[in-house]
Amino acid sequence: MLTRGQYVERITGGRQAARSDSAEAFMPSNIALVKYWGKRRGELNLPLVSSLSYTLEGYGTKTRIALADRDSAELNGKPATDEDLKKITAFLDLFRAPGEHYRVVTENNIPTAAGVASSASGFAALTSAILALKGLEIPLKGQSMLARLGSGSAARSFWPGLVLWHKGERDDGMDCYAEPLARAPGFCMAVLLLDQGKKPWSSRQAMEISLSTSPLAAEWPAAQQRHLDAALAARDVETLGAVAEENAVLLHRLLAESSPSIVFDLPETTVWKQKVREWRAGGLPVWFTQDAGPNLKLLFPLKNKEIMAENLRGQGVDYFIV
Ligand code: PMV
Repeated sequence: MLTRGQYVERITGGRQAARSDSAEAFMPSNIALVKYWGKRRGELNLPLVSSLSYTLEGYGTKTRIALADRDSAELNGKPATDEDLKKITAFLDLFRAPGEHYRVVTENNIPTAAGVASSASGFAALTSAILALKGLEIPLKGQSMLARLGSGSAARSFWPGLVLWHKGERDDGMDCYAEPLARAPGFCMAVLLLDQGKKPWSSRQAMEISLSTSPLAAEWPAAQQRHLDAALAARDVETLGAVAEENAVLLHRLLAESSPSIVFDLPETTVWKQKVREWRAGGLPVWFTQDAGPNLKLLFPLKNKEIMAENLRGQGVDYFIV
């Protein structure tokens, strides 16, 4: 078994001093259609299940990292909270050469901590930026493995379109990485911004509580694998959308039945789920997915982009379509 430090050294070839004074990277976020939920080994963020995502091209995090006298971080124009700074420095510790300190300045063009997966783009961008600062050219597969140590879902942010993150079997995590699927998605995703406040539970806390207390925890890995197999075999958006929605519904049942019960839905979330079901009953092909937060993401065929944009405009909701 490897420690996090040994794992990083295996991929980067060892700690290196910075080759330049500063570096910058932008990475997009991604939304899981079949969710990552649960860890098989916490230390290396090795997931219990493989997962499938869609990249939100153009929506993510821009991060600049520069050598400095002490570690500091700014998120969206404000000094990072102690909690965020701790996460960032713990990640950078894995790459730090003796005596190095960093100033990290990060900007999201999507709402932070609102279940719109800003930790995925954040740690993917931080990985790219620290590797650039060190002059390390690591293939994307290796970058995906490194970013995973910051936030699991970050492993999937390195490619456009549909991305599959393999859970791997090995204890040393060397077979746990993401890769792009060659298939064209054939759908669009509307991200509805129903609430932009901070979430009551972090995904890490919610994962631990739900998988150790929910009566549905025992059936989650097998059901999730069935969803993944169905999503990978799907050749049309109708099948993929239905599986993605089923997977999200199961995840939120697992959460609701844990102790304490974890419910991310706000009243608007419930209203929108109902609206999606009604639209569908009325013949409009649209499905929802939901992460560990109150916002919903809607999937619909590419050819319906204009119709959906018009439908959403009429509802007075903030959204963007990718
Ligand atoms: O990457 P984390 O630790 O923030 O966990 C992400 C969990 C979900 O967003 C709910 C699911 C996923 O696969 O992205």
